[in-house]
Amino acid sequence: MQPPSPPSAITLLSSFLFLLSLLWSFFLFFQWRQRCHHHHHHKLLPPGSMGWPYLGETLKLYTQSPNTFFSTRQKRYGIIFKTHILGCPSVMISRPEAARAVLVSQAHLFKPTYPPSKEIMIGPEALFFHQGDYHSMLKKLVQSTFLPSTIRGSVSEIEQIVLKFLPTWDNTTINTLEQMKRFAFEVAMLSAFGGGWDIDKERIKHLYQCLEKGYNSMPFNLPGTPFHSAMKARTLLNETLIRVIQNRRESNGEDQGGGLLGVLLRHKDDNLNHLTDSQVADNIIGVIFAAHDTTASVLTWILKYLHDHGHLLDAVTKEQEGIGREILEGKRGLTWEDTRRMPLTSRVIQETLRTSSIVSFTFREAVEEVELEGYIIPKGWKVLPLFRTIHHSPDFFPHPQKFDPSRFEVPPRPNTYMPFGNGVHSCPGSELAKLEILVLLHHLTPTYRWKVVGDDEGIQYCPFPVPKRGLPISVTARINKTKL
Ligand code: HEM
Ligand SMILES: *[C@@H]1O[C@H](CO)[C@@H](O)[C@H](O)[C@H]1NC(C)=O
Ligand SMILES: *[C@@H]1O[C@H](CO)[C@@H](O)[C@H](O)[C@H]1NC(C)=O
Repeated sequence: MQPPSPPSAITLLSSFLFLLSLLWSFFLFFQWRQRCHHHHHHKLLPPGSMGWPYLGETLKLYTQSPNTFFSTRQKRYGIIFKTHILGCPSVMISRPEAARAVLVSQAHLFKPTYPPSKEIMIGPEALFFHQGDYHSMLKKLVQSTFLPSTIRGSVSEIEQIVLKFLPTWDNTTINTLEQMKRFAFEVAMLSAFGGGWDIDKERIKHLYQCLEKGYNSMPFNLPGTPFHSAMKARTLLNETLIRVIQNRRESNGEDQGGGLLGVLLRHKDDNLNHLTDSQVADNIIGVIFAAHDTTASVLTWILKYLHDHGHLLDAVTKEQEGIGREILEGKRGLTWEDTRRMPLTSRVIQETLRTSSIVSFTFREAVEEVELEGYIIPKGWKVLPLFRTIHHSPDFFPHPQKFDPSRFEVPPRPNTYMPFGNGVHSCPGSELAKLEILVLLHHLTPTYRWKVVGDDEGIQYCPFPVPKRGLPISVTARINKTKL
């Protein structure tokens, strides 16, 4: 006799909860959609299927891999097509020139747009959500913090972080994504706060982890749900940061400390007004958020590709060994100039950004009726430039499925390569991301080797595409082996 099986009750309950949260999120998306105006131009709208009125094709987007979703529609309708996604009529585009029009030349007609739950979580005053003067003022401040001329001074601090992590991986099995997240988080904290010790790093890290869990879950605000815990963590994170901000404003006088925080605190507009506490807090939280998950996902892919392509791992190792034995032996630190002498490793990073295309697409919203590619896009419709589709087009990248860094020996055609976006909202952190990856590979490749544990194919979305289960690997020292 089998007792009633508890797992099936749990399964039932969790499917019920899942259904409930689906309904709830559709309700929220419906509210979001109310903000998109409905026009009924049928004459010149792009081709495509709108799916069911409210669910639209969202379910399909989330149940198929985004690749399949885009490629089947692109085959059917061409390089521009309409659909319903997250409850909004949307147009997806995959012609480089059209993406450029939306992101660069006609950027004023297309504003960034995010579901309201994401905006609340990151912070409504973060630069992502804004256009015009407020956005460009903040963008200049953030960009100035991450310019090569600014970040070149942090090479040795990033190197210290790398050297702290690597020995803890030796002779163990690690979850690559998890470890890379911890690494990228430390680098993000460094660039947000400078080397300051006025912050409780462990507390901030813990709150971020809660925030992140809810960010990637259904926006279902009931006690016990990840979304609810995330909102609580967001409130605590806000309070913690506002205390740091007020302390720095009081104690440091004109100096205000290092990192992005120092830059934001020192800023004064033409009327000598400072940014408010919550403007500063939302932007610090937003930048750390944008910086660590993205970089960690790319690092995870790099380890996977180097694992799968032994000859490239050997070539990267050789290049890194050529940078200087003295560094690997600990006699001097890596310098900015050293990192500029890593052409092959840099191409491996470029090719990883292309093949993995972790930011597969972005969202904009037409602020008025716009003509694009000969079609009308009504006011309020969403427009999605599909970076991944462009990066995987055989017209621009022959044999797109092949991992081949040598394709970047020749620069890609203009507007066909946008791992960091394009135009006014493009990524201000691209140089920092590439720098921290170079520093990590510099110490990792000559010293360690890794093997993927378990079956190693498959992709998982969380929310960026990463190798299945976050790529568990077992790491061993290399030097001993080659000296045999
Ligand atoms: C490899 C890692 C990274 C990738 C692939 C990446 C990708 C992107 C992309 C595609 C966008 C544009 C989104 C859009 O147009 O809607 C973006 C924006 C942004 N990224 Fe990154 N990013 C990475 C790392 C970073 C880092 C390290 C930082 C911080 C230092 C950062 C900060 C930002 C910010 C603040 C924005 C918003 C800019 C704006 O709205 O004006 N990112 N990122
Ligand atoms: C953060 O705290 C400040 C000051 O208490 C408040 O004005 C602001 O709305 C809070 N922001 C968020 C996103 O909770
Ligand atoms: C690595 O782990 C194995 C098994 O746990 C152990 O026998 C070996 O001594 C370890 N090697 C190093 C260098 O720590």
